[in-house]
Amino acid sequence: MGIGRCRKSWRLSGNILTRQMICLVAALGAAVGAAVGCAAIPARAELRQGRPAITKGPVLLRVYQDRAALMWETSTAGACKLHYGKATEAKEYVESTPEEVSYEVKEDNKTVKRTAYIHKVWLEDLEAGQVYRYRVTGPEVRSRAHRFRTVPVDTDKVRFIVYGDSRSNPKTHRKLVELMIKKKADFVVHSGDLVSSGSKYEQWGPQYFEPVKGLAERTPIYIAKGNHEGGSGNYEKLLIPQGQKNSYAFDYGPVHYFCLDNVSRGQGTKERLDLIVRDAKDSSAEWKFVSYHIPSLNFGGHHSTWGRPDALPKLAEAGIDFVLTGHSHQYERFRPIEPPGRTGQSYVTYITTGGGGASLYELKPTEQHACADRVHHFCLFEIKGNKLKMKVFNLEGKVIDHLEITKSKGGLNKEYLQTAVPMEEMQRYQQENLRKKK
Ligand SMILES: [Fe+2]
Repeated sequence: MGIGRCRKSWRLSGNILTRQMICLVAALGAAVGAAVGCAAIPARAELRQGRPAITKGPVLLRVYQDRAALMWETSTAGACKLHYGKATEAKEYVESTPEEVSYEVKEDNKTVKRTAYIHKVWLEDLEAGQVYRYRVTGPEVRSRAHRFRTVPVDTDKVRFIVYGDSRSNPKTHRKLVELMIKKKADFVVHSGDLVSSGSKYEQWGPQYFEPVKGLAERTPIYIAKGNHEGGSGNYEKLLIPQGQKNSYAFDYGPVHYFCLDNVSRGQGTKERLDLIVRDAKDSSAEWKFVSYHIPSLNFGGHHSTWGRPDALPKLAEAGIDFVLTGHSHQYERFRPIEPPGRTGQSYVTYITTGGGGASLYELKPTEQHACADRVHHFCLFEIKGNKLKMKVFNLEGKVIDHLEITKSKGGLNKEYLQTAVPMEEMQRYQQENLRKKK
């Protein structure tokens, strides 16, 4: 079985190597008939004209088997209702309590003060594996109708996308999102750096919420906070649901996924690594994934070594299969790392997926890479039980890297393991690489 394919010619030996938004206006009209207004006008135009509007979202922040968290922003004060239901009519609703945010924007060489209202709600007591339809209504605003599916109870299948560093170049980000929509993923993970400067509230619309339109209404995007999100609190206000922290886990079928914040001040690196280890050890999922923004293994761009020297041994000991990070604007997949002693520990595959839109960084492929490319891209994982496939797509929708692996009796297939680099060797290369950087 071919286990990996990388577009580049320096492939290593041993490593062969919309849906359209469904408009249910008529059906939902009965449930939300009292609401007035329109939805299709671009948010920024409405802002300029001072009209009431939904100016960000709605987006799904979390979706579990029995609950879901959503967020949206309005330009006018007052509570909104999120109407939802399984059938064509959205019978239930929850009411939001908006949080007021004031910010300044430059318009026609003048500084203009603006106020926005962030709404976040949880939908509770949902049924697993069901399609729910929803719509937001509020004072003079009304969204289009959208739908999402709760996580099924018994499934051994999942399809998900991982990408990162979409900041600063919304056009490229949007192109990737348009490709992502066609993949019909169950969820998306973003490895951080959504905006150029998170403290500038006015950037969040054009750089994040607008490019993800058509995707984020129906597919939850789980984010590992990036350094560009900053410490102003805007990231947390907009994208962390009530009652949750920046580091969190979720499950979908055979996958357990942990998103770690390794950029905010406060916790030490050891403490954060222990969080990953504890979380992974508590899960009996077949596949364990982790995402955080600043990589532990990265030979291009920033040459990051977050958690060094503990990260590599600790994540192997915790039984992690994949670590997907960002920060360096490139794609690099390392050969799996052979843990010392080999038994009872996992062969971890590290991927830097920082090609979501930001300007690309230089990187030189090395013997330790299975694939490395200076390219805008996203990764698509398809897992069915013990079989995992990953394809990486560029801006043209072409596959630039491909990987297939199988687990049996808890271990990965021989062909893949034959490509592994011993951990000590990888750490030596990491050290060398750091010296070169200096
Ligand atoms: Fe970054």
